[in-house]
Amino acid sequence: MSRTMRKEFLAILVGIILLGGVVTAAISEQAKGNGSVKGNSNVAGCEPTAEALRAKELYLKNCARCHGDDGRAQTPLGQRLKAGNLADARWQWETSDKRIAEIITNGEERMPAFGKKLSPEEVELVVTHVRTLRERSHPSSPSHQ
Ligand code: HEC
Repeated sequence: MSRTMRKEFLAILVGIILLGGVVTAAISEQAKGNGSVKGNSNVAGCEPTAEALRAKELYLKNCARCHGDDGRAQTPLGQRLKAGNLADARWQWETSDKRIAEIITNGEERMPAFGKKLSPEEVELVVTHVRTLRERSHPSSPSHQ
C-alpha cells in the first residue's frame, strides 16, 4: 500500500466510524421514542388502575363464590343455585349497567341482595368489574385476567 492510499483508507475508515456513530445514535433515539409510546399504552391497556383492582377485590370477595372468578358460575354453589353466567357476551350486551347495579343492590330470586353490604359506590365498582368478565369472541384477546 502506498502512503497516499493508506491516508485515504484511514480517512474512509474514520468516516465510516463517524457515520456509524450518528446512525447508532439516531436508532437509539428512535428506540427510546418507541419505548415511551409503548410505556404509555401499557399504562392504559394492561396495568390495572387502583379502582380496577378494588373493583376486582370486591367482586372476588362478594361474588366469586357463586359466579366464579371468571363470572361463568362454574363453582359448586353457583351450579347448585343456577347462578347466571356473567361472562356471557349476549347477556352483557343486553343488560345495562343500571340493571346490573339493581340486581346487586336488591338481589333477584336466588341471588342475595348486597344493598346493605356494599355502598352504592362499591356497587358501581363491582359493575365495572362485571363488564371486564365478558367473554371475547376474538380468540387472540385474553378472555379474562
Ligand atoms: C349466594 C350465591 C351468589 C352470590 C354470592 C352472588 N350471586 Fe349473583 N346470582 C346468584 C344466582 C343464583 C343468580 C340467578 C338469579 C335468579 O334466581 O334469577 C344470580 C344472578 C346475578 C345476576 C343476574 C344475571 C342474569 O343472568 O340475569 C347478576 C348481574 C349477578 N348475579 C351479579 C352478582 C354480583 C356482582 C355479585 C357480587 C356482588 C353476586 N351476583 C353475588 C347467586 C349469587
